[in-house]
Amino acid sequence: MLDIAKPSPATAALRPSEYTATLIHVLRHRSECVKDAKVLEMGCGSGVVLAALGAMGAASLSGIDIEDEAVRSGRSLLRELGHDAQLFHGDMWQPVAGCRFDLIVANLPHFPMEHIEVAGRLPTWSSGGSDGREFLDPFIEGLADHFTAKARAVLTHNAFVDVERSRSLAARRGLALTILASVLVHIPNEKLALMTPSVLLTEEGKSIHRYGPHVFADLHIVEISPVGTQS
Ligand SMILES: C[S@@+](CC[C@H](N)C(=O)[O-])C[C@H]1O[C@@H](n2cnc3c(N)ncnc32)[C@H](O)[C@@H]1O
Repeated sequence: MLDIAKPSPATAALRPSEYTATLIHVLRHRSECVKDAKVLEMGCGSGVVLAALGAMGAASLSGIDIEDEAVRSGRSLLRELGHDAQLFHGDMWQPVAGCRFDLIVANLPHFPMEHIEVAGRLPTWSSGGSDGREFLDPFIEGLADHFTAKARAVLTHNAFVDVERSRSLAARRGLALTILASVLVHIPNEKLALMTPSVLLTEEGKSIHRYGPHVFADLHIVEISPVGTQS
C-alpha cells in the first residue's frame, strides 16, 4: 500500500510545483542530454528534480540550495531512492567554484515580488526581487564558467521576466538561448497580489491572461548552451 505519511511543515514548504513538474517533463523528453551526464541543480529544493535525473541515468548528481532544510530533505530523499548525490548548502555558484558540469538545471525563484512568504513557502522560494531577475541574471552570467565543452542548461523562465534580456545576457558569454517548451501555469490570486505592479501592468494581456478571477501566465522551459551546439 502507498505510504502517505503527513509531511512535516518544512517538507511541505518544499513541495514540488507546476514549475517543477514542467521542468521534469521536458527533461524526460531529452534523456540523451541526461544519460551519463555530470549534473548540477541550482536551487534543488526537495531534491525531486535530481531524483528524476538520477532515475534517467545521470552519471553524477550535485545540488545547491540556500536553505539548510532543503539540503537536508534533498539528501534524505536521494539516499532513500539509492542515489549518491552531493548537496551543498550555499549561495548560487559559490559552493561549486572551479567545477564544471555537462547539464545544469534550475527552477530559480524569479517571480517579480519582494521577499515575503506566500502560500506556505519560504521567502526564498519564489521571489526574484522587484524585476524577478535577482537570481536569474547571476545564474546566466555564471553558466559559461561552469560548463564542460558540450554542456547545456535547462531552466524554467517566466515569460513576464523578459526572455530577450536573458537571451542577450547569454549571448554576451557566447551562449545561445532556445525556448524548448511553453505552457500555461495558474497564478493564485494571493501570489498575483504581490507581483510588482509595473510588471503586471505591462504583461497583462501579453504573457498574463485573466479569465474572471482566474489568472494564468506563460511559462517557458529554455535551454542555454554554447553557440553552435544547440540540439
Ligand atoms: C522555486 S524553488 C525550486 C525548488 C526545486 N528545484 C523544485 O523545482 O521543486 C527555488 C529554490 O531555490 C532556492 N534558492 C533561493 N535562493 C537561492 C540562492 N541564492 N542560492 C541557491 N539556492 C537558492 C530555494 O531555497 C528553493 O529551494
